[in-house]
Amino acid sequence: AITRVHGRQVLDSRGNPTVEVDVELADGSLGRAAVPSGASTGTNEAVELRDGDPARYHGKGVRKAVAAVNGEIAEALLGVDARAQSEVDRTMVELDGTPNKARLGANATLGVSLAVAKAAAAAHRQPLYRYVGGVYAHLLPMPMMNIINGGAHADNAIDFQEFMIAPVGAESFADAVRIGSEVFHTLRATLRAAGHNTNVGDEGGFAPNLNSADEALEFVVAAIEKSGYTPGEDVAVLLDPAASEFYVDGVYDYRGEGRKRSVEEHVEYLAELVRRFPIVSIEDPMAQDDIAGWKLVTQALGDRCQLVGDDVFCTNAALLSEGIDAGIANSILVKVNQIGTLTEMLLTANTAFKAGYTVVMSHRSGETEDTTIADLAVATGCGQIKTGSLSRSDRTAKYNQLIRIEEELGSQARYAGSGSLS
Ligand code: PGA
Ligand code: ZN
Repeated sequence: AITRVHGRQVLDSRGNPTVEVDVELADGSLGRAAVPSGASTGTNEAVELRDGDPARYHGKGVRKAVAAVNGEIAEALLGVDARAQSEVDRTMVELDGTPNKARLGANATLGVSLAVAKAAAAAHRQPLYRYVGGVYAHLLPMPMMNIINGGAHADNAIDFQEFMIAPVGAESFADAVRIGSEVFHTLRATLRAAGHNTNVGDEGGFAPNLNSADEALEFVVAAIEKSGYTPGEDVAVLLDPAASEFYVDGVYDYRGEGRKRSVEEHVEYLAELVRRFPIVSIEDPMAQDDIAGWKLVTQALGDRCQLVGDDVFCTNAALLSEGIDAGIANSILVKVNQIGTLTEMLLTANTAFKAGYTVVMSHRSGETEDTTIADLAVATGCGQIKTGSLSRSDRTAKYNQLIRIEEELGSQARYAGSGSLS
């Protein structure tokens, strides 16, 4: 049974406060989890409770969420069996009483939810991926590695937020990390040789001052080739335009490029990029409010390309179900803090699997040293993880955890590769 629930305020990778929770069980088992935080958030995400006190952390403190953990939530959960994860999560949802965790904060509920799961796994003397995923958990996800950062994640003129690579042809997860690292370092050299800066953005990818998505894609493909790999065959390319960020008054405003594209022109531009570059997946190609655009892009590209809904679904099973009925996207990005409990995240993932949608486990642009999502990617067997670039410990911590899991699984382990895309 749960004997202690203790929250505290710690820092995330952007230097902002976030919630960390320790859970202790009667047998002494411990679980600890820290909560991530987004920058380009969807409007329907569960609420990340911030104090709003300008005198502390510029209003970004999370002392209210921590107080909820140490007060109401702890009171409700003391004595509860940590193995009853769905009961733990339901108790917090009901205690909160709002549809979007606005009262206690999804940062409070998520920290507790994940820490309870980790404590229960420890009590079972099992790694988290095994405890949550059961005996069949053996699939190592294909990583989507974000090597050029733009949009809200960098101070440059690139309109799209993320330019990613995926080592589809790797033999193992560790091999995928090696390939990703080689391409990352080759990209640094080619950017530097072309006179661009090689400072990194929030997710550890480079943030050069390039003028367009075209130019960024040319650098990425050249880096794959120069590293000795065949674009498309060995290493595929993936995009997250995060289009909600530049959808203004019904058009897509490419401020970096200095031009606007209508919904139709924007879809045609994406289709052109898919023709010209080995792009296998596009996340948030359209804005969360542009459902007509989402339908258009799904009809235009859905048979050729994984179309991942992030802002439009917000890891919410009800929103995903609406999207499935409307025929938009064919994949969902799953971020635990968008919904606020492990149980609800798993429900959303299962809703996607049943509908034949693929699932991508994802970090946030604000992360911590917590590696829970690495385990959850293996636990769900979703086959894909998006957790940033090949630099910055908040990103590589997840890759390193997956390397450990692969090693531990030994001959049971299987690397998802391109099979996970459909
Ligand atoms: P965020 O970005 O964590 O800043 O929301 C990640 C994404 O858009 O996928
Ligand atoms: Zn996204």
